[in-house]
Amino acid sequence: MSLHLRSGVILGVCAALGIGSLTLSERSVLAQGKGGLTEAIGKISAAVDKGDLEGAKKLAAETAKNSEWDEVMHLFVLRSHKKPGLGVGDKAGAITPDGIEKKLMKLAENPLSDKDLGAESAALVKMGNDMVALTLVTLAKPPEKDDGKKKKKDWVAWSEEMLKASQEFTAAAKAKKAADLQKAAVKADKSCGKCHDVFRFE
Ligand code: HEC
Repeated sequence: MSLHLRSGVILGVCAALGIGSLTLSERSVLAQGKGGLTEAIGKISAAVDKGDLEGAKKLAAETAKNSEWDEVMHLFVLRSHKKPGLGVGDKAGAITPDGIEKKLMKLAENPLSDKDLGAESAALVKMGNDMVALTLVTLAKPPEKDDGKKKKKDWVAWSEEMLKASQEFTAAAKAKKAADLQKAAVKADKSCGKCHDVFRFE
């Protein structure tokens, strides 16, 4: 066997055993327990719900170390996605759209009726807390250095805008104020767009 071939075989065996090739999400599962990122975000969201923002920030800093931007952001997608997002509310499919990103866009377009807001209030409070949790992780994960238009200070500013909008969203959902909820949804949606224009689609 030539040396070239043999090293190829060794490489192949290493790859099969997974040596040195743990993906980040596998590492995050190891670091964050079986539930991985979803569970970690759930814990942060629960701290936010209790009003413990400082505790939530500490957890978010840990989670930020063990995750990538795309896995954090992915949790905004529909729960029915083959790799499920967080969804809206405790019960899958009970509220539509059952994903934070789509729900936010819908709420930004049209205010909820008082009746729907009454029925969805608890789920929307949870959605707001989940948004705060995801934002705290985003905030704890700015780019290490500026890269052309991708500036660290903008990342932080847009994350802070999203944090504020998410907190206003939760407050409006708790108070069952449809007009305020719509305003907060518009503001949150804009902050997503500003960051995406530069960091996601550039
Ligand atoms: C501070 C910057 C920033 C903000 C604010 C932000 N995002 Fe993102 N988002 C990103 C980046 C960067 C990516 C691309 C990640 C990658 O592919 O590496 C992304 C990707 C995504 C994706 C695709 C994830 C996937 O791979 O499946 C979704 C969905 C998403 N964002 C939703 C949102 C929503 C909803 C908001 C607002 C509530 C938001 N984002 C706010 C930076 C941001």
